[in-house]
Amino acid sequence: MWPLLVLLLLGSASRGSAQLIFNITKFVDYTTCNQTVVIPCIVNNVEAKSLREMFVKWKFRDIYFFSYNGEKNESKPSNSNFSSAYIVPEALLSGIASLKMDKSQAVPGNYTCEVTELTREGETTIELKYRVVSWFSPNENILIVIFPMLAVLLFWGQFGIVTLKYNASVTKEKTILLFVAGLVLTTFVIVGAILFVPGEYSTKRASGLGLIVVPTVILILLQYSVFMIAPAIGMSSFSITILILQVLGFVLSVVGLSLCVSECTPMHGPLLISGLGIIALAELLGLVYMKFVASNQRAIQPPRKAVEEPLNAFKESKGMMNDE
Ligand SMILES: *[C@@H]1O[C@H](CO)[C@@H](O)[C@H](O)[C@H]1NC(C)=O
Ligand SMILES: *[C@@H]1O[C@H](CO)[C@@H](O)[C@H](O)[C@H]1NC(C)=O
Ligand SMILES: *[C@@H]1O[C@H](CO)[C@@H](O)[C@H](O)[C@H]1NC(C)=O
Ligand SMILES: *[C@@H]1O[C@H](CO)[C@@H](O)[C@H](O)[C@H]1NC(C)=O
Ligand SMILES: *[C@@H]1O[C@H](CO)[C@@H](O)[C@H](O)[C@H]1NC(C)=O
Repeated sequence: MWPLLVLLLLGSASRGSAQLIFNITKFVDYTTCNQTVVIPCIVNNVEAKSLREMFVKWKFRDIYFFSYNGEKNESKPSNSNFSSAYIVPEALLSGIASLKMDKSQAVPGNYTCEVTELTREGETTIELKYRVVSWFSPNENILIVIFPMLAVLLFWGQFGIVTLKYNASVTKEKTILLFVAGLVLTTFVIVGAILFVPGEYSTKRASGLGLIVVPTVILILLQYSVFMIAPAIGMSSFSITILILQVLGFVLSVVGLSLCVSECTPMHGPLLISGLGIIALAELLGLVYMKFVASNQRAIQPPRKAVEEPLNAFKESKGMMNDE
């Protein structure tokens, strides 16, 4: 008999005052991409017809930091750490007491929402969690850095061919100019890659990406100069095709960059990457073409004349270029 009585007593005690029932959310995530953070608090059985009957309090680490008093029509954060916190009073009558605040003020942890409606009350606790999201995916990160690096290396390969194979016909000034431009480009790309370390979106990473992509315009100029400097190449249809390809790659990557740089979760990574890939491809084709032309020349001429070859080639091109 006794246990039954105890059960009955306990049961009536817990049913005691009317309870508000919440739609339970155990936790919500936010990332660096959320501008405002919404902590949901939804009451399922609100019966109040007037906001005057509603009271809401939000608690974090045992400290009340926000309160809404419907009778006084007063809604205010009571803690300067959460000065941006607010609820939408009009939504309370449909049971929504969700709290909104600036991401900058959000602190991960357990938030408790207490709602009172005349004599009925209830509370629920929601855990706010911070989730790290990478700006680009790991594969995209690798490709974005690899392609420009590859393109720069290939340029240095072209530079090597120009200085070694055509050194007799290329003036020192031109060589130095090529070298300096190449060095500037290399520095930009390396600094950009260092700033662009994988991770969440940040202005530092965005500027790193800019430093990687925009200076690849120098590669177009360098490719053009290298073609013009190498006596046997000039503006052949093949070199023009390569240059067009390179300009196309640059345009694609700059468009991709401008679409990605302002987005916290970029959708156009593939566009950017294909642009950078085309740039690297154009550099590769340029290098192969130069190597092919250079070795072709040597194959035609006897090895003993190898030293004179660039000179001859130089004179030839001069003769072809100067109409006089
Ligand atoms: C709350 O839960 C009830 C039933 O579980 C559901 O019908 C209702 O749509 C939910 N409300 C919200 C805002 O999710
Ligand atoms: C953050 O943003 C995502 C996507 O917009 C959204 O689904 C999520 O609910 C937001 N998190 C918070 C805590 O507001
Ligand atoms: C509460 O006050 C705000 C201004 O602070 C006003 O816009 C709103 O209409 C008031 N609501 C009620 C129910 O009095
Ligand atoms: C604000 O947060 C800091 C660090 O979490 C804490 O030391 C400080 O006491 C808080 N200020 C108030 C007014 O609660
Ligand atoms: C929040 O509460 C849950 C459940 O009580 C607990 O597992 C979790 O560790 C708490 N989180 C923090 C940050 O205190």
